[in-house]
Amino acid sequence: MRLLVTGGAGFIGSEFVRMTLRDHLEDSVIVLDKLTYAGNERNLDPVRVDPRFRFVKGDIADQSVVDPLASECDVIVNFAAESHVDRSLEAPGQFIMTDVYGTYVLLEAARSAGHERFLQVSTDEVYGDVADGRSREGDPLRPRSPYSASKAGGELLVQAYRASHGLPAIVTRGSNTYGWYQYPEKIIPLFITNALEDRPLPIYGDGSAVRDYIFVEDHCRGIDLALREGVPGEEYNIGAGQEISGTTVAETVLRLLDKPAALQQFVSDRPGHDRRYALDSSKLRALGWEPRVDFGKGMETTVAWYVEHREWWSPLKSGEFWEFYRRNYKPVGSGAP
Ligand code: NAD
Ligand code: DAU
Repeated sequence: MRLLVTGGAGFIGSEFVRMTLRDHLEDSVIVLDKLTYAGNERNLDPVRVDPRFRFVKGDIADQSVVDPLASECDVIVNFAAESHVDRSLEAPGQFIMTDVYGTYVLLEAARSAGHERFLQVSTDEVYGDVADGRSREGDPLRPRSPYSASKAGGELLVQAYRASHGLPAIVTRGSNTYGWYQYPEKIIPLFITNALEDRPLPIYGDGSAVRDYIFVEDHCRGIDLALREGVPGEEYNIGAGQEISGTTVAETVLRLLDKPAALQQFVSDRPGHDRRYALDSSKLRALGWEPRVDFGKGMETTVAWYVEHREWWSPLKSGEFWEFYRRNYKPVGSGAP
């Protein structure tokens, strides 16, 4: 299989590329990535010398870049996205450009090239806040942030291309993913790197909102299986079924790093904060997938990686990172952190 992997220099996309080239020796991969603040070519260092791998810097919303690459491939796996909810609250325009319009450009390219598969990497956030039970693939989409609305918009275009043009497309809806190579703005790498620098861990609201955390390798094995064994036209949830609160994430990080509880800092809540996501992944499990890494083991592995790879994350926490940080975080009842 010749894969065009968009967003392959990001956190999950780079794991998928490393895994594909390791596990599927007959495959080749072209990565198309714009290298936004979240993209990092160093994430692809382990595969750089592989003759089956090629990197192209470019925008998925640029048809003149996408079309020739699509014609060299059999499938597109679309990871490219603006991915941070808090940034989408401040500046949603780029989310719509990449996550909606960019998806459209890729779908058109796949249609013109007559691709045998299109895989859209989506998110459990499209279901919105889930008070009870677990989301199943047939549930209505009720996105509540500009990020999740953009991801839902991308999905709806995928559905339209299936229905209108018979494009053999699959959607995966992964849950909150953590592990190595994650840009330190999402809760787990932010809390680990802040703790390593003896900075406060900013917990939104009362810290009781829960997420269904999954280790990055488990998420990517799910995407790989859906790509190869999934039924075109179907959606597949990918979640490990581990519901963990914000305060539990903070406590786990501090315990693993032997840092004081006093580093926990409760800050103003995220506007429109979804209280809970939870996935029923039995449809993917029926294809033979199951998560292998529980939260305890995954966190040990992840914390150890950040301890050992300070040279990877330390340069990322500078300049624009801190400008956004200062705008985003408001300690309850006080000034800037
Ligand atoms: P990330 O922010 O780490 O990486 C996104 C990558 O996309 C970056 O390399 C960036 O440079 C690239 N990119 C952004 N805009 C682009 C554009 N216009 N053209 C080309 N490349 C562009 O994100 P991630 O956490 O690895 O998420 C990857 C995908 O998985 C996203 O589609 C996201 O919605 C989805 N997802 C993420 C999670 C999670 O918890 N992180 C969970 C479920 C689904
Ligand atoms: O669920 C899948 C989604 O998970 C993906 O689609 C998104 O791309 C990814 O960013 C992630 O979204 P979340 O908003 O759930 O992740 P985040 O790490 O931003 O927040 C996780 C939880 O932690 C949430 O309840 C908010 C809270 N939080 C987050 C940050 C960044 C804090 O308490 N403090 C923080 O500083």
